Amino acid sequence: MGPDRDLGSPPPFVSTDPEAPAAQGFFVAFEGPEGAGKSSQVARLATRLRDQGFDPVVTREPGGSRAGERVRAVLLDPELRLEPLSELLLYAAARAQHVVELIAPALAAGRLVLTDRFRAASVAYQAYGRELDLRFVEALNERVTAGLKPNLTILLDLPPELGLARVAARGATDRLERADLAFHARVRQGFLAQAQHDPGRWRVIDARHDEARVADGIWEALEPALLAWRSG
Ligand code: TMP
Repeated sequence: MGPDRDLGSPPPFVSTDPEAPAAQGFFVAFEGPEGAGKSSQVARLATRLRDQGFDPVVTREPGGSRAGERVRAVLLDPELRLEPLSELLLYAAARAQHVVELIAPALAAGRLVLTDRFRAASVAYQAYGRELDLRFVEALNERVTAGLKPNLTILLDLPPELGLARVAARGATDRLERADLAFHARVRQGFLAQAQHDPGRWRVIDARHDEARVADGIWEALEPALLAWRSG
């Protein structure tokens, strides 16, 4: 094995400044409890961005790489029982692969990257939800992302009762969606706590509204930062 890389400080491929210059790419993550409508909102936003002349790279977690998509299948399989620690490590493994294979190169090439979930999901689901040690989860995240944080994280927030009812109405549920209401209430708290802690990098959108209104809220939250980034 070669010498350990220094992963303690932010890597050169991305600025940690929300007003990052264009040459460094711009990184936006979407988070939220189950049933918040994230995936459809990311797809809508990507279309709107393309109409406005942006060329976003759109990805998701767990996933975003071939190995990551296979890990996703394990993580979401309702037939499998996973220990909380195993679950955390599998999400971390998928994330490490995602950063190295896709996110870091795209940002280094100056691209706009949208991801459906990133590191805040492990804090909300594995630390708050599964009640694993928060500092350990954060340290692991720091390591697997090499310190990379989104320039902005959009939190689609809604009460867990409503989110789970939406998920149930869609049909088959995955392994995480089957966890109990108390778990999902802690997950929501985990997201809100992170947003409150770092308001410069987070935008909270009320996801109880209809899709079009939520989409407008996301656009209003993102547009100023994106225009500033594009004008570099
Ligand atoms: P999604 O496509 O609904 O976002 O599916 C991903 C599921 O995995 C969702 O239930 C949230 C969960 N998850 C975690 O528990 N930890 C993580 O780090 C990530 C990225 C997702």
